[in-house]
Amino acid sequence: MQKGEIIEVEIISLNSEGDGIGKLQDGYVIFVKNTLPGDKIRTKIQKKKRNYLIGSVIDIIEPSKSRIKPTCKHFGICGGCKFQNLNYESQLKFKSQIVLDSFTKIGNFSNLNVNNILGSDNIYHYRNKMEFTFSDDVWIEENKISNLATINEELTSISDNNEKRKKMFGLGLHIPNFHSKIVDVKECYLQSEISYKIVNFVREFFKKRNKSIYTIKTHTGYLRFLIIRQSFNTKDIMVNLITNEYEKELINEFKDELLENFTDITTVVNSISTKKAQVALGEYAETIWGNGHIIEILNNGIRNLKFRISPNSFFQTNTKQCEKLFKEGLNLLDINQNDSVLDLYCGAGAISIFISEYVKKVFGVELLEDAIKDAKTNAKLNNINNIDFIQSDIKDFLKSNENLEQNFNIVILDPPRSGLHPDICKILSETNFEKILYISCNPSTQARDVKIICSKGKYKILKLQPVDMFPNTIHVENICLLSSLN
Ligand SMILES: C[S@@+](CC[C@H](N)C(=O)[O-])C[C@H]1O[C@@H](n2cnc3c(N)ncnc32)[C@H](O)[C@@H]1O
Repeated sequence: MQKGEIIEVEIISLNSEGDGIGKLQDGYVIFVKNTLPGDKIRTKIQKKKRNYLIGSVIDIIEPSKSRIKPTCKHFGICGGCKFQNLNYESQLKFKSQIVLDSFTKIGNFSNLNVNNILGSDNIYHYRNKMEFTFSDDVWIEENKISNLATINEELTSISDNNEKRKKMFGLGLHIPNFHSKIVDVKECYLQSEISYKIVNFVREFFKKRNKSIYTIKTHTGYLRFLIIRQSFNTKDIMVNLITNEYEKELINEFKDELLENFTDITTVVNSISTKKAQVALGEYAETIWGNGHIIEILNNGIRNLKFRISPNSFFQTNTKQCEKLFKEGLNLLDINQNDSVLDLYCGAGAISIFISEYVKKVFGVELLEDAIKDAKTNAKLNNINNIDFIQSDIKDFLKSNENLEQNFNIVILDPPRSGLHPDICKILSETNFEKILYISCNPSTQARDVKIICSKGKYKILKLQPVDMFPNTIHVENICLLSSLN
C-alpha cells in the first residue's frame, strides 16, 4: 500500500481524537478524520508510517447507522462540536470506551470495570461559559457538511496563500489544528441563544469602528477575546471583553449600546491582557457595569448553594452535569461526618462547599489568588464554617506538609487537563490516605497519573465513573476512586 493509493475500508471504532479507525487485511490500521464507526468509505492514503496509515475521505460508500444530521451550520469546520453528526447513544459508548482504553493502554491496568456513563439531559445549550476569539484570519465557509470529502481536503490544504483565507474582521471559535484561524460564529448550540446574538452584536460594534484585532505576529492590536458567562439557576449574564488596553470612552459607549440591545445582561467587564500568550485571562478587570461577577446555584442534596464567579475564576462549564458529577463523587466516597477532606485544585471552592455539610472539615488548596478569594467569599455566602482555603501550588503544598494523613482521610484531586506533576504523583504514591477521588476532564493524563500513584502498592482502583459534561464533543469527564490497600 502506498501514499496516494485509494482503498475501501470499514470504520470500526474511534481514537481519542475522535478520528475513525479502520483495519486493513494485512494488519495495518488506518486513521481517517471525519468518519464514524459503521461508515464504509473510500479513502486516499495521505501518510504511511511503520505500523499505521493516515487517510482522508474520498466518499462514504455506505454511511454508519449512527450518523445523524448535524444541527449547526458551522459543523465540520468549527472545533466546537465534533460529534454533532453522531447519535447521542453512540457518543456515550465512545466516551466509556475512551476511559477504558486510557486505563488499560496508558495506565496498564487490567480487569477493570467502567460504570455506566452518566449522560446529559441537555445535549445542546448546556455551557455556562463560552470563549470567543477575535481574529482577522477567518475561514470562509462555502462547502457544507454534506460534502465530507471536500471539507477534509479543504482543512488539510489550508495554507497562508489559500485564496479561501481572506483578511477580515472575525469573532468566533477556532478551527481544529489551526491556531489563529477561526470560524466567524453566527450561531452556536453550546450556549444559549442570547450568547451568539451577543457575539454577532459585538462583532458588528467593533467592526463599524474599525478597531484593530490583536495578532501574535506583531503582538499589537486592541481586541483579543469575548467571554460570555451565563448562570443556569439565576438570571445572571456576564459579558467580559478582553482587550490589550483600557479605552474608557469606547468601552462605556460599548456598554451603553450592548445594554440597550440586551436588557438581560447583568454585568459588563473589560479585562486587560498585555500578555503575549493567547490565553483568555486578564491581568486585571475593570467592572464597567453591574457587580463584576455572576452567581450560580448548585443543589447538593441538602440545599441550594450559591457560588460567586469572577471573570478569571474556574467553574465547571455544564451546571446541570456538575451537580451530577459532584453528587456521584459524594456517593462513591460514601462520605460521612467523620471524614476530613483535602480538596486539591479547589478553584472557587465548588467541590469543597458542595460536600462541606456531609463531612467534619474541608481544606481547599488552589494556585489562583482570585479563585481563593472567591472560594472564601463563597463559603461565607453559604454560612459554611468547617472550611479553610489557602493559595498555593499543589506541589509546594505537598512538599512542605508531611503526614497530611494525620489530619485528613480523603483527598480530592481535580487538576487541569494536563494532569498532575510527576512529583505530586510520587508523593501521593507514598501516602496512606483512606481514599483518593481523582476527577479529570482528560482520561489519558488521569490514567498516566493513577499508574504512578498506584505504583508503590498502597492504592488500588475501586471505581471508574465517566460523566458526560460535554455532549457533542470528544471530551469526557471521569471520576477515579482509589482506596488504600492498608
Ligand atoms: C479543573 S479546575 C478545578 C476547580 C474546582 N475543583 C471546581 O470543580 O470548580 C483546576 C483548578 O486547578 C488550578 N490549578 C492549576 N494548576 C495548579 C497548581 N499547580 N496548583 C494549584 N492549583 C492549580 C486552576 O487554577 C483551577 O482552578
